[in-house]
Amino acid sequence: DKGNHRHFMQKEIYEQPVVVAQTLRSYLSRIDARVSLPIPEFDLGAIRRVTIVACGTSYYAGMVAKYWFEQFARVPVDLDFASEFRYRAPVMEDGGLALFISQSGETADTLAALRHARGEGQKIAVVVNVPSSTMARESDLLLPTHAGPEIGVASTKAFACQLAVLAALAANLARAKGRLSPEEERDIVRHLEETPAALNAALANDPAIEAMAHVIAGARDVLYLGRGTDYPLALEGALKLKEISYIHAEGYAAGEMKHGPIALIDENVPVIVIAPSGPLFEKTVSNMQEVQARGGKVVLISDAEGIAQAGEGCLATIEMPKVHPLIAPLVYAVPVQLLAYHVAVAKGTDVDQPRNLAKSVTVE
Ligand code: F6R
Repeated sequence: DKGNHRHFMQKEIYEQPVVVAQTLRSYLSRIDARVSLPIPEFDLGAIRRVTIVACGTSYYAGMVAKYWFEQFARVPVDLDFASEFRYRAPVMEDGGLALFISQSGETADTLAALRHARGEGQKIAVVVNVPSSTMARESDLLLPTHAGPEIGVASTKAFACQLAVLAALAANLARAKGRLSPEEERDIVRHLEETPAALNAALANDPAIEAMAHVIAGARDVLYLGRGTDYPLALEGALKLKEISYIHAEGYAAGEMKHGPIALIDENVPVIVIAPSGPLFEKTVSNMQEVQARGGKVVLISDAEGIAQAGEGCLATIEMPKVHPLIAPLVYAVPVQLLAYHVAVAKGTDVDQPRNLAKSVTVE
């Protein structure tokens, strides 16, 4: 049932504040301001390396997690697409954790990778949205997302809930490694608890995004740029646009532009820049200005501070709430989802059932 929404995708985008709150409730303990995961049958503190494997949008959630695990827990992280991982003779030492992320829990490539990692003596953790799925049954540590059934082929709310679980796992791993003080953990819990309200504030941009969608709908190519955890979001934004609007899009690490892709820039290529104010802002803005100097039309997604500093000369700006960097990837997912959605609606494509795609990919 779509309720009063036109498409399941739109409904699922709007469900995010509620389902993220729901997911966080099972991973945060309010009373002692701690992260609480299901107790694994192995010692998280003994983990020396994490291998993250997934496909598509779930892979981009894994990419955000790589930044978090390395930053908070100082554990080295290997990340791969399931379809590459399985066939590249990956090196996995004893004492490693292999983490699989999947909405459906049935994606054939991810499942094959899971079984391969088990054969290599890895502990198996899974982040899945379907608790009765095959991956859930074959795990040593089951970390469910509580997004509820996701019907739209383009993943939205499952991605947000995956990030919520992965942030909790990052904090738990950091504590197990002796790298997180109780004060730091309390801060992380506090920031995560701010997420649902920030998601609501992000959704308030819907009319502004809808109003500019026709400009993007007329483009043949669109670029998305970001740094740090906004880089996976740039990739995710491009994937969303491609799959439902059929417009060619690419996500790039902002600093990579000058190593090639900037040659593509002219006044016909809109560039979506994902840049919350913060430590990486200045650098991203200088990449953005390189684009503008070549006639590129920029849509800047930032907070009031960032827009005040760099919004001038942009085709459009989308003003996000000011959020802690930890939760920024969850919150900044909303405008890229809404943009893809409205562009697809403007183009008249089948938003919930894009051509050539299936919700669950059960062939390798
Ligand atoms: C994109 C999308 C796909 C899936 C991918 C993995 O919007 O939905 O890229 O993310 O097929 O599926 P799961 O997460 O079920 O393993």
